[in-house]
Amino acid sequence: MVSDFISLAECSQDDILEILALADDLKAKQHAGTPHKMLDGKTIAMIFEKPSLRTRVTFQTGIFQLGGFSVMIETRLGERETVPDVARNLDRWVDGIVARTFSHEHLQELAEYADAPVVNALSDHCHPCQILADTQALRAHKGADLSSLKVAFVGDGNNVFHSWAHFAAKVPLNLTLVCPEGYEADPNVLGYAQKEGLGVITMTHDVEAGLAGADAVYTDVWASMGQEEEAAEREKTFAPYQVNEAMMAMANKDALFMHCLPAHRGSEVTDAVMDGPNSIVFDQAENRLHAQKAVLATLIK
Ligand code: CP
Ligand code: NVA
Repeated sequence: MVSDFISLAECSQDDILEILALADDLKAKQHAGTPHKMLDGKTIAMIFEKPSLRTRVTFQTGIFQLGGFSVMIETRLGERETVPDVARNLDRWVDGIVARTFSHEHLQELAEYADAPVVNALSDHCHPCQILADTQALRAHKGADLSSLKVAFVGDGNNVFHSWAHFAAKVPLNLTLVCPEGYEADPNVLGYAQKEGLGVITMTHDVEAGLAGADAVYTDVWASMGQEEEAAEREKTFAPYQVNEAMMAMANKDALFMHCLPAHRGSEVTDAVMDGPNSIVFDQAENRLHAQKAVLATLIK
């Protein structure tokens, strides 16, 4: 098992499936009210450089439910003191570090200089906790074996897509990025996933081709945190990639709609799709709690 949870690319298939199994177990225990104090007496530092609803609430709530304690630090890493010094300080006090950063390198530095496990709560490069929660939801709706499923990720080839690609490199799944020209995924991530993945991993600018045969249609905001200045230009470029009822009709009849949230309703997704019968966005959001509890309980002993 990995000692830090920075990227799904660093996990084995067994690591991912073990965490997903524990996430299901912890979800059942939480729903049944069964005690599961796996972090009894442990303290976790949470560093947030960016806003958050889901990640922040689910980590803090999950740590509490597991019997631990969380300390929130809203700061910009590297400004007041070096990232290695932050890591070496926290390491003397806490049992784990959860961090949402702009720079992925800062997460890697935290992991390098702290012996305590470091968990990625989103960086500009990837969002692995999100994809654990998403695949937990996808498995609940479509069955545990995802190998015959096609996920069409419509929009920006961003941090969330990168974690989908990392996942598909390890756990068989067909994944297609459907994006405008100029907004493709990092070629290193796509190349790695295509080389390692047992499923088919592709990229297209053609919406109809990308959606054909899709069992799940996933989207994310067009401008991620830190890209606010590009938002107006992106609104224009991404307009043909809005997930609306006409686009959902290009996918399989019972295709699920997925979104990591927050959603910009009327931009990347319409109300009709987001609130439609095939939308599982709030199951995904709920699972952030269970999946992250599984990550923490696995890493922090
Ligand atoms: N999906 C997600 O990470 O949401 P927040 O930005 O609200 O944490
Ligand atoms: N791609 C988005 C995901 C938010 C959960 C961002 O980085 O802002």
